[in-house]
Amino acid sequence: MAKITASVFTSHVPAIGAAMDLGKTQEDYWKPLFAGYEFSKQWMKDNKPDVIFLVFNDHATAFSLDMIPTFAIGTAAEYTPADEGWGPRPVPKVKGHPELASHIAQSVIQQDFDLTIVNKMDVDHGLTVPLSLMCGELDPVKDAWPCPVIPFAVNVVQYPVPSGQRCFNLGQAIRKAVESYDEDIHVHIWGTGGMSHQLQGARAGLINREWDNAWLDQLINDPVAAAATPHIDYVREAGSEGIELVMWLIARGAMSDINDGKATGPTPKLRHRFYHVPASNTAVGHVILENP
Ligand code: DHB
Ligand code: FE
Repeated sequence: MAKITASVFTSHVPAIGAAMDLGKTQEDYWKPLFAGYEFSKQWMKDNKPDVIFLVFNDHATAFSLDMIPTFAIGTAAEYTPADEGWGPRPVPKVKGHPELASHIAQSVIQQDFDLTIVNKMDVDHGLTVPLSLMCGELDPVKDAWPCPVIPFAVNVVQYPVPSGQRCFNLGQAIRKAVESYDEDIHVHIWGTGGMSHQLQGARAGLINREWDNAWLDQLINDPVAAAATPHIDYVREAGSEGIELVMWLIARGAMSDINDGKATGPTPKLRHRFYHVPASNTAVGHVILENP
C-alpha cells in the first residue's frame, strides 16, 4: 500500500522564485536564505518520493473572487506555471498523478470533506517556489521535477477561510486515503505558505519571530495544540497573511503519530529546522519531519 514517509513545511514568496530565476541566490541579501535549504536539496535527492502531495494557496491566479473553493484537489495530468504579471517562471511544467489524486478525492469526500475537483489549473508561486527551494534550479525544458505532484489548494485569501483544526482533521483523512491506495509508493506531504507577514494596511511589514518560533515548537512537538490556534491569533500575532500557516496543519495532521485527533504514536523525526528574516516581506520557516 502507499504510505506517507515525510512532511515538508516551507514558506513561499514570489521574490524567492525571482532570485533563483535571475541568478541572485549568492547575493548578500539572499545567501543566508538559500543556505537554509542546502540540507533540504540533498535530503530530497536522498529521500526522493514517488509523489508529492503539495498543499498550497492560489493567489487569485487560477481562482479569483468569481469562484473560491475552500479545498481544491488537482486531478490533472499536467499543470502549467502561471503568469503572475511578470511572465511565467522559467521552471518545468508540473506533472500530476491523476490516479492517486482521484483515489484521494474519492476517499476524502467519502470521509465527509467536500473537495472541489480541478481538472485544469495553472500554478503560481505558492506551488512553484516550494518546489524550487526543495529541488533547486532546473531547466524548464531539459529538466523535470523529481516526481509527480498533486496540487491541493486551500483558500486562505478570502474570508471565511478554514480553521486550523479543520485543516488538521483533513490531514488525517488524507493519510487514510493514501494508505488505502493499492500500490507500494512513498508520498511526501508538504504544507506551504506563512510564516508571519502582512502585505497591506497599517501593519504592512509585520514580522513576529517569537510567535513564529513558538508556533514551530508546537507544530513539531504538540501539533494538537498548534491545531487549536484560533484565526484571530494568526492575524493578530502573525499578520493578515500569517493565516497561510493553517495549511501546514494539513501536512502535520497526516503524519503517523496523529490518530483520532490525538498524538498517540512516536513523534516524527525532526530532520531539519530553519528560520530566517527577511525574505521580501515575509518570515521564512522551514521544517522537515520523517515518519518512523
Ligand atoms: C509575499 C509573500 C506572500 O505570501 C505572497 O503570496 C506574496 C508576496 C512577500 O513577502 O512579498
Ligand atoms: Fe502567499
